[in-house]
Amino acid sequence: MSNVVIVGAQWGDEGKGKVVDILTRKADLVVRFQGGNNAGHTLVAGGQKYALRLVPSGILHDGKTGLIAGGVVVDPDVLLEEIDGLSARGVRVGPGNLKVSEKAHVIMPYHQALDQAREGSKGAGKIGTTGKGIGPCYEDKASRIGLRLGDLRDLESFRDQAERALGEKNQLLTGLYGQSPQKLDELMAKARLWADRLGPYLTDTWRLLMAAVDQGRQILFEGAQGVMLDLDHGSYPFVTSSNPVAGSVSAGAGLPPRKIDGILALVKAYSTRVGSGPFPTELEDQTGEYLRRRGTEFGTVTGRPRRCGWLDTVVVRTSVTLCGADHLAVTKLDVLAGLPELKIATHYLLDGEKIDFIPSDIRAAARCRPVYESWPGFEGDLSKVRKTEDLPANARRYLERMSELCGAPPALVSVGPDREETIMLHEYF
Ligand code: GDP
Ligand code: IMO
Ligand code: MG
Repeated sequence: MSNVVIVGAQWGDEGKGKVVDILTRKADLVVRFQGGNNAGHTLVAGGQKYALRLVPSGILHDGKTGLIAGGVVVDPDVLLEEIDGLSARGVRVGPGNLKVSEKAHVIMPYHQALDQAREGSKGAGKIGTTGKGIGPCYEDKASRIGLRLGDLRDLESFRDQAERALGEKNQLLTGLYGQSPQKLDELMAKARLWADRLGPYLTDTWRLLMAAVDQGRQILFEGAQGVMLDLDHGSYPFVTSSNPVAGSVSAGAGLPPRKIDGILALVKAYSTRVGSGPFPTELEDQTGEYLRRRGTEFGTVTGRPRRCGWLDTVVVRTSVTLCGADHLAVTKLDVLAGLPELKIATHYLLDGEKIDFIPSDIRAAARCRPVYESWPGFEGDLSKVRKTEDLPANARRYLERMSELCGAPPALVSVGPDREETIMLHEYF
């Protein structure tokens, strides 16, 4: 298999960083194709923890190339900070092994300010965004007034474009949201630094990708967020502003759909969600607290406590179907240890009717009540287990039922944050 897409099948934070890191051992290229620094992908190797935002999660491996493709929105300050942080820790990262698309849109400081001002003005109705300017940047891209990283090559023209954009953004920031205006000179001081430091990384990543595809290289496509946060298929408006579905790899990176060889859906053994929006299996009780504590469920990007709940197989089935996933990667099975009873949602009850889909209407989705199956729990430290036969019998049963209900077999099971704490069941490359 050459071209494998990894997607989150829930609301993000399924453990994509860890799984991409493991699969990179046998890959040549790792490609981010959507989202931006709203993503926080954690890898743990040799007791060291790395939280990545934009740099593809294969970066710890020597001899591999990371691509940030045109579908990603990039805050240059965050990317530079990440490159510097990794370098300071001895990770080799430079224009030789990291390529950034000149077509990727720039998250400007006014995008971040607008994101935060809008959220602040919404009160209880807020989306609960990461506040990183993702939505406003994609808006400008769709409105055809965005600035792309390649525009940094001509700073005079960049200045003209930024000046036009700033005229409009400052009206919104000051008039509508009572914020201070942003200054063009300050923005251009940043732009000069970005041009200087990021210039060597910029290229047409699509052409590099096509050459790698032609050579039959092993390529991993690292999705960000999760299918339930998809702009088109998620619980709109409580979604992100890009498409985390697998098919988005064609738009975001330019991989022709027929070249996708494998699709792996990441599924946490329970559910979490950060931000607002319907969450039928949410647990606002001691069990939810247990999952949050044992699973360290606090946002990588914002530090916010994640909402926790039982596994929802209506959600995962929908994602597996939408993405055409052929396998699951099940993560955080170890976190469930110690609970006497485990519940799995198989269906919903909507106004008394049993349904097996997520209603498009957000109000109806919010009225869905989960229909549960109950399974006996298991105990013990799973982190040393490397074969499914060595799992407690009840953990094995839970896994089997999970994969039956989700509609795909597991390719790997993760039993701890470290890259070694993994049960491999299927080789992707
Ligand atoms: P991502 O956004 O999908 O890459 O996931 P995050 O990195 O935001 O969140 C997943 C969290 O769970 C990280 O802190 C990981 O280190 C951790 N993690 C990943 N897999 C496992 C696992 O199998 N067990 C445990 N206990 N933690 C895990
Ligand atoms: P990774 O890649 C979890 C959520 C936010 C909010 C909504 C919109 O680490 O899985 P945005 O800033 O994108 O406009 O916020 O989407 N969100 C994520 N939740 N994991 C993520 O990324 C997320 N990226 C965005 O919490 O509800
Ligand atoms: Mg995350």
